Amino acid sequence: MCGIVGYVGQGHADGRPREVVLEGLRRLEYRGYDSAGIAQVSPDGTLSTAKKAGKLANLVEEIDLHPLPDATAAIGHTRWATHGAPTDRNAHPHVAGRLAVIHNGIVENFVTLKAELAAQGVECTSETDTEVAAHLLARAYDATGDLTAAMTQVARRLEGTFTLLAVHADHPRTVVGARHDSPLVVGIGEGENFLGSDVAAFISATREALELGQDQVVTITPEGVVVTDFHGAPAEGRRYTVDWDTAAAEKGGFASFMDKEIHDQPHAVADTLLGRTDVRGRLVLDELRITEEVLRAVDKIVVVACGTAAYAGHVAKYAIEHWCRIPVEVELAHEFRYRDPVVNARTLVVAVSQSGETMDTLMAVRHAKEQGATTLAIVNTHGSTIPREADAVLYTHAGPEIAVASTKAFLAQITATYLLGLYLAQLRGTMFSDEVEGKLVELRAMPERIQTVLDRSDRVREIARWMADTPSVLFLGRHVGFPVALEGALKLKELAYIHAEGFAAGELKHGPIALVEPGQPVFVVVPSPRGRHSLHAKVVSNIQEIRARGARTLVIAEDGDEAVRPFADEVFYVPQCPTLLAPLLTVVPLQVFACELATAKGLDVDQPRNLAKSVTVE
Ligand code: M6R
Repeated sequence: MCGIVGYVGQGHADGRPREVVLEGLRRLEYRGYDSAGIAQVSPDGTLSTAKKAGKLANLVEEIDLHPLPDATAAIGHTRWATHGAPTDRNAHPHVAGRLAVIHNGIVENFVTLKAELAAQGVECTSETDTEVAAHLLARAYDATGDLTAAMTQVARRLEGTFTLLAVHADHPRTVVGARHDSPLVVGIGEGENFLGSDVAAFISATREALELGQDQVVTITPEGVVVTDFHGAPAEGRRYTVDWDTAAAEKGGFASFMDKEIHDQPHAVADTLLGRTDVRGRLVLDELRITEEVLRAVDKIVVVACGTAAYAGHVAKYAIEHWCRIPVEVELAHEFRYRDPVVNARTLVVAVSQSGETMDTLMAVRHAKEQGATTLAIVNTHGSTIPREADAVLYTHAGPEIAVASTKAFLAQITATYLLGLYLAQLRGTMFSDEVEGKLVELRAMPERIQTVLDRSDRVREIARWMADTPSVLFLGRHVGFPVALEGALKLKELAYIHAEGFAAGELKHGPIALVEPGQPVFVVVPSPRGRHSLHAKVVSNIQEIRARGARTLVIAEDGDEAVRPFADEVFYVPQCPTLLAPLLTVVPLQVFACELATAKGLDVDQPRNLAKSVTVE
């Protein structure tokens, strides 16, 4: 959700705190873009702030008009509104006395706390839940004279989820932060230190990072970093070096991050496959911290995830059940948590998440652990919360995904679930070693095939531009093509704000066909005719059924599939590959289509309206 940056620099005041914070906010803007703000402290004890509703550019313009003084420390915030409309007044930072606070998350007991403050004569001026934290912190500081101690006190009083950062005019060389169920990482510099919602906040200054644990308070000064728990007892973070640099977080000549990330997909898949075999060619998943004994005993897998990550889980179901003969359920994390799922010590719960911070998915992991299940995280972001809390982790190596709508992370997630399925099949003996090796060879050929799909994307782009005014698009798929259809529809909704629905092609006659009227565009993801033949024939029949009712059929089929031609208004061919691996190819034209159509409509494909990259509130 919101993006948070903190910085303390050398003893002398200059423009660097402002520059670092604005640069960090630029890189974190994908987390929320309803408003942005900054608070700075100067050595003479001046606290200066600026904040503006709307995108970061509005804040930059405001600072150009009303320049901020030189400073030694600063905090900055880019907001995804939860409590209170995205106005200047509700924008962060919130000031109480000589102190300023920024916040990511939701303070669930803010009504009680606000009433308590009101009874003591403190009036809140915004509609946010955050402002109570600012007032509480100011009062705790006035009582103790110690900003870190004040933060621990306040952190213990807040319920819900939060990352808080604070600066105080009395401490021009200090930023204090606290986290509970919300992300915060430390960047270690030379004579300067950083805080950020994720490492992108400070990647242009340092790749040295410190991962904070749950319920910790951190104090940064130019000289160092001190971490404690919420009671002030010393605690330690985990130091690591970020394995990507600024170039990975730039557009690199593409018009948008979305376009760049779509084109990064061959690398995302290749990198996720790297280093997964031993000298004998056997699949090894070193990161898995689950014993072979536990994995052999697993009798059910439940994939929990949200949005695009959940569709990766749906693809995984087809592959893992086929290769391992273990039942796989896929459930939206927020639904899983609030029903009474039947999981036990023999259940493997696999949480799939790009950010590793999605609150619904994190809560599902906790719930599964409480029921005694073994939990495995498939996550892209190092240092995030879900892999730390899960029993095991399998990292995808998609690199930073900046565009709000997910593309390369999706392909990397699917790839990681294939690796998991093959590993389990190898371990449990449901596939021969040479079969596993054969699948790995096929998987390693996929990046080149994805590149071929990208190289052929001109026609998809052309059609997308023609269709910029279309009010509705349907997507059909069967078997592994079904989650691809769902993802194609989600991409179009997110990016182009067009009504789009994905259906299982077999479901068509049970209702959705009523939506088909003359001219209705329908994408159909066709399975390979070399796979289970009946499946291909059935989807070809579905195409005929909708065409007979006037649909405009946009078909995704594999090279050599001539059977679809007579019934397709357009065919987008993708290279041949094994049936279960096809989603890595068939989803690509749908991503390109959504991106191009949204661009043709003049929309911001990197930051679609109302969305945030990382959904850290329930
Ligand atoms: O970070 P996660 O993978 O856990 O995020 C899950 C969803 O919020 C995410 O995939 C969302 O659906 C994206 N907007 C998809 O483009």
